[in-house]
Amino acid sequence: MQSRLDRMPEWQSLKRHAGAVKNRRIDALFDRDRNRFQNFSISAAGLFLDYSKQNIDARTRSLLLDLARATDVEGWRGRLFRGEHVNGTEKRAALHTALRAEGPSADLTPPAALEAARDFQQRMETFVTAIRSGEWRAHGGERIDTVINIGIGGSDLGPAMVARALSPDIADGPEVRFVSNVDPAHLRAALTDADPDTTLFIIASKTFTTQETLSNARGARDWLQAARPGTDIGRHFAAVSSRPDRAREFGIPEENVFPMADWVGGRYSLWSTIGLPIALAIGMPGFRELLRGASAMDEHFLVAPLEENLPVLLALTGIWNRNFRHAASLVIAPYAQRLDLLPPYLQQLEMESNGKGVTREGEAVTWDTCPAIWGVAGTNGQHAFFQQLHQGGEELPVDFVVVARDAGGDAARQRLLVSNAIAQSAALMRGRNVDEVRERMQVDGAPAEEIERLAPHRTFPGNRPSNTIVLDELTPATLGALLALYEHKVFVQGVIWQICPFDQWGVELGKELAANVGRLLAGEVDARGVDGSTRGLVERLTRGGEARD
Ligand code: F6P
Repeated sequence: MQSRLDRMPEWQSLKRHAGAVKNRRIDALFDRDRNRFQNFSISAAGLFLDYSKQNIDARTRSLLLDLARATDVEGWRGRLFRGEHVNGTEKRAALHTALRAEGPSADLTPPAALEAARDFQQRMETFVTAIRSGEWRAHGGERIDTVINIGIGGSDLGPAMVARALSPDIADGPEVRFVSNVDPAHLRAALTDADPDTTLFIIASKTFTTQETLSNARGARDWLQAARPGTDIGRHFAAVSSRPDRAREFGIPEENVFPMADWVGGRYSLWSTIGLPIALAIGMPGFRELLRGASAMDEHFLVAPLEENLPVLLALTGIWNRNFRHAASLVIAPYAQRLDLLPPYLQQLEMESNGKGVTREGEAVTWDTCPAIWGVAGTNGQHAFFQQLHQGGEELPVDFVVVARDAGGDAARQRLLVSNAIAQSAALMRGRNVDEVRERMQVDGAPAEEIERLAPHRTFPGNRPSNTIVLDELTPATLGALLALYEHKVFVQGVIWQICPFDQWGVELGKELAANVGRLLAGEVDARGVDGSTRGLVERLTRGGEARD
């Protein structure tokens, strides 16, 4: 067993180093090293990472790499690809890499997993081809033109994000919509102009027990049966699940049930049959390109030494900011409208994986783990919360994700977008001191008292760290590489924090309590023994019968 993270000499060295460089400025690091941009950037699998605007120098990096080695990132990396039980609490492998394995990683992957992945993909391909070619007909003999995916969490966020990112350019299949929330308004909105004769529902649930998904699935089935009584739901419903028996019990015929393995975690599952709506929207060749991009990142992650390893370096910038500079959050700012669902997708990937309070051995952690992940697409964020990033009291690191070329060829507007991303990261780092403000205001001819009044308000502290990740173009392959980059980053951080990134026990209590509260709202049980607030809210919400049927 490893010694506890905060007792490791490598951790202690980093702590001392962090204390010594506490007031160091990032812009001063550029003055000291003329090649800093080259020395603190890296390319792999078609992506480029600039981390020169982190408060990290060669010594910081080398201490962080020592920590990665001491926590056995290399050993865990091998265990991940070999399909060992890296998900210790659930005694399972986490083999999302098997779903896209090519090259050296395929040699490490258990053959049974490779075979299952190929099998599932083959079944998916047959179905996708039949739907997209029109060979597959709905009950009344029409082609499917609308697909509604009903799922939540990992059975929604990944497919929805990828379909949105890639659809505008390459979608030539049915329109794909996503329903996740149990709020009746969500399903209603998706059904508003859907045609019951041409709509296919995919019920996506790894466990096929998720309350929200099953309730929405029943709602969809009721809608279809009310609109077209006697319709064969087998021509309008498919399912993806690691429990095909439960999907069949729901009434979905065997041939429309697409299995997934239990070694694929929900938030790592868009590469599996959970990616069915993506493949329906963009076609199997596009879906395979997505897998190929991810695979290129897997190969890099697997073989590159830690000091030249993109996911490892990205993870280490996060460890430095979170554990040694005490950053409470990480902002994800994709400067690409089509990636506007990247922040919520990464929220689940990072926070459900690494938002943990005990070690793999079940001891309380005494160091910070996952920061809060949030953000929106740029430039919108600049007109919302960037004010606080620039002048608020805390250092809130940012990951800028920038796409160099616009797929539609609008170079001028794209330049505007990209220049904003670069300018924001520079402004966060450089800031503007009070003398610069005074000088500028003088040049603009402001009166002296006005200068004194406004100077503090117009001063920016700067020294705010960021990464910039560049994709030359947003294609299935570059997107696949980007998502695999973050998956491995999360894994590396989980290893360093000595936690299990592949379970999610923290969502269980709320589920249990919701079931109890549901019985209270329905008036099936009385509120004795329930806390005062819950009792009060139940009374308030049922006063006019609103939350009752
Ligand atoms: O929110 C908890 C969770 O278990 C996620 O991990 C998962 O992605 C989501 O619910 C949906 O689960 P399922 O695919 O089993 O419906």
